[in-house]
Order: sequence, then structure tokens, then C-alpha cells
Amino acid sequence: MQDERNHNTSPTSFPYSSKQLASSTQGGNSDVPVVDLSVSDEELLVREVTEASQEWGVFQVVNHGIPTELMQQLQVVGKQFFDLPEAEKKAVAKEEDFEGYKRNYLEGIDAWDEHLFHRLSPPSIINYKYWPKNPPQYREVNEEYTRHMKKLAEKILGWLSEGLGLPTVALTQSLGGETAEYLIRINYYPPSPKSELALGGPAHTDIGALALLVPNEVPGLQVFKDEQWLDVEYINSAVVVFIGDQLMRMTNGRFKNVLHRATLNKERLRISWPVFVSPRHDMLVGPLPDLELISGDDSAPKFKPYVYKHFKSRKLKKLSLDLTEKKIS
Ligand code: SIN
Ligand code: FE2
Repeated sequence: MQDERNHNTSPTSFPYSSKQLASSTQGGNSDVPVVDLSVSDEELLVREVTEASQEWGVFQVVNHGIPTELMQQLQVVGKQFFDLPEAEKKAVAKEEDFEGYKRNYLEGIDAWDEHLFHRLSPPSIINYKYWPKNPPQYREVNEEYTRHMKKLAEKILGWLSEGLGLPTVALTQSLGGETAEYLIRINYYPPSPKSELALGGPAHTDIGALALLVPNEVPGLQVFKDEQWLDVEYINSAVVVFIGDQLMRMTNGRFKNVLHRATLNKERLRISWPVFVSPRHDMLVGPLPDLELISGDDSAPKFKPYVYKHFKSRKLKKLSLDLTEKKIS
């Protein structure tokens, strides 16, 4: 099994030509929308996050209510884990499934990182064997962070539901409500002399519904818009929000599942902490029926509903085939 990221926007087609994707890792300046969540005008927030999801599929949120100190602690305990000797990191090594620690320094396939992946919520699906025991605060900090991430994700899903003309709880419920699945991945990209040519994380769209990412201060995240790669500016304490494949499908393509990638830095270590919000694995996910009712004639469903775990396994299989082909050629 690979992971939550995927190269493709549907199990069978990939709308970007290799020419668009294969070029230098240089990015242009971008105006990825920044939404200040401290404003009290809810209608404005609804409009801003909805427009950003439609036009960009990515935005940053500031003044989101997650304590800065907690964000710092998350970064400290994550980095402490990766600073451990390899033998200790292997205590939580990946086995057959996607959870766990993996070194992934693969030449020629644009994936040069170490990462740790594990579930966060609901409690019934957590495998604590993949949570580092060292540093000892790892679990407490990640549990506290999960509570905040859940609140933030549900707030954003609420505004997006309203922006679509649906009841506030519509999107959260369509992911399974309290049983929606939360996972964290820590991406650890050491400095690389090949930073102008090789990538840390390949171009992909996120397979789940939403991803909420916190990076360290080293820039490297890029999004693809209007036929070009654009740098996402680092903003201290901001959270980067991505629309993933499932929200794109649920909204019948109204929200963009933005293509993005991670570049490497020549001199500095880059780390990022995306939290993925996904439907419960047995939820049937396709264009929302209520959405069709309200949006009139041009809203014939463009996507076939899939049980989420089937969608995911088909896409991950395709991704691993793609990687094998690239490695061979
Ligand atoms: C990801 O999309 O999982 C990683 C992006 C990043 O490292 O900023
Ligand atoms: Fe991603």
C-alpha cells in the first residue's frame, strides 16, 4: 500500500500531461487566498472559503484558534522522532498497511523523504503501535492537536456546506459525522543538492476530502494553477487547507481538488504535517443529491459514486503501478 496521496483525479484518468508536470522545480509567485477566521461576519467567511475552494482548491487560514504553542509542540515532538537513530524509528515501521514509518529515498521518481503516517480519529480505528513512544509527549500532544483539528475541519466543512446552499452539517455528515476518519502524515525532507531537479513529494491531489497542513518555516509547497506551478507563501502559524478528491466529487466538480507537490531545499530541512480528513471507509461517496436539486439543470452527476475504500484502493493500485513504470524506465 502507498498512502493518502495520489497522482490522479479519478481512478482512470489524469488530466495533466507529462509536459505540464515535468519541468524545473522553480515556482512562480502566487496569491493563494488567505482567510482570517477572527472576523465575526460569518457570511463573509462562507463566501471567502467557498470562492477559494471553487477557484483554487487551496487556501490558508489565520487566527484559526489553534494555540500557537500547541502547533510548536507538534513540530517539536515530530522532529524529535525523526532525529532518533534509524533503529529506534523502525520500532514503528510500516508493515503491510499504510500506517507507520518509512524511509523513501527513491531516485528518479520524485519522492525523496522519510515519513510517518498514522490514524488520529475516531478512537476505534487508532493503532497506537504506530505512534512513537519516544519522545514521551508525542501521544499527548497529538491527541490534543487532533481535538483542535477536528473542530477546525468541522467549522470549515460547515461554511462550505452553507456556501453550497446546504444545511451547515451536510458535508460533515456525508463524511460520516463522528466516524469520519482523521490521519496525520509527517513528511521529513532533508536538504538536497538536487533541489532544482528532484522533488520531495510528487505532484498529486489528495485522495480524501480535506487536508489541513502545517509546514515548518522552510518554503517548498507548490500548487498548480492556470498551467503553472506557484509557490505557496509560508505564513507563520497559518494552516494550509486543501480540497481533496472526495469534496471535488461530492460537489460534482464545483470545488477543485488542487494538484500540489513538495520541492526540496538545498540547505535546509523541510518538514510538513498534513492532517487528512476522509469519509468513513464504507461510505458511498458521489455527487450530493441535495446539491443537484438546488443547482438546476446543468448539474447532472459527473461522477460515479464509489464506496470510499474501493475508490482509495483502486487509485493507490494505479499509483503504485505508475511508480513501478517510472522506476523501470
Ligand atoms: C503533501 O501534500 O502531503 C505534502 C506537501 C508538503 O510537504 O507541503
Ligand atoms: Fe497532499
